[in-house]
Amino acid sequence: MIKDSLAKALSDQFNAEYYSAYLYLSMSAYADRLGYKGIANWFAVQAKEELAHGTHIYRYLLERGVAPSFQDVKAPQAAYESLQAVFEKVLAHERQVTGMINRIASLALDEKDHAAYDFIRWYVDEQVEEESEAEDLVLKFSRIGDNPGLLYQIDAQLAARRFTDPF
Ligand code: FEO
Repeated sequence: MIKDSLAKALSDQFNAEYYSAYLYLSMSAYADRLGYKGIANWFAVQAKEELAHGTHIYRYLLERGVAPSFQDVKAPQAAYESLQAVFEKVLAHERQVTGMINRIASLALDEKDHAAYDFIRWYVDEQVEEESEAEDLVLKFSRIGDNPGLLYQIDAQLAARRFTDPF
C-alpha cells in the first residue's frame, strides 16, 4: 500500500510532466514562428517525451491502486527575448523538476517503499541527462548569438531529433 504523501507527490509529478509538455510545445510554437523549424522540432519531440514521462507515472499510480489526481495545467509564457533566453528557461525548469524528483525519491526512502524508489530511480537518471543537455544548449546558443550562419547550422542539427518512447 502506497502512503498518501508519496501518492500525492507522484500525482503532482504526473501533472508537472504534463505541464512540461505544455511548456515545451509553447517553445516549439515560438521557434516555429521565428522560422526555425529544426528548433521547433526539437521542442516538439521534447514535449512528446514529457507526455510519456507523465503517462508512465499515471499508469504507475493506477498499478499501485491510487486514483491519479488531475490538476489544472497553467498556461506557459508565450514569448521570449531570444532563443538563448528560451534555453535558459529550459535549464531553470529542468533544475526545478530535478528538485521535485529528488523529493519523491527521498519520500520513497523515508517510507521504505522500495518499489516506488525503484520506479523513481529512472527519473533521477533522466534528470541528469535533461540538465546536461539543457546546459549544453544554453552554452551553444550563447556562443551563436545572432549569427545567421550558425543559427542555420544548429537549426539543421536539431531538425534531426526523433521521438522514441522511453518506456
Ligand atoms: Fe520529464 Fe524534462 O523531464
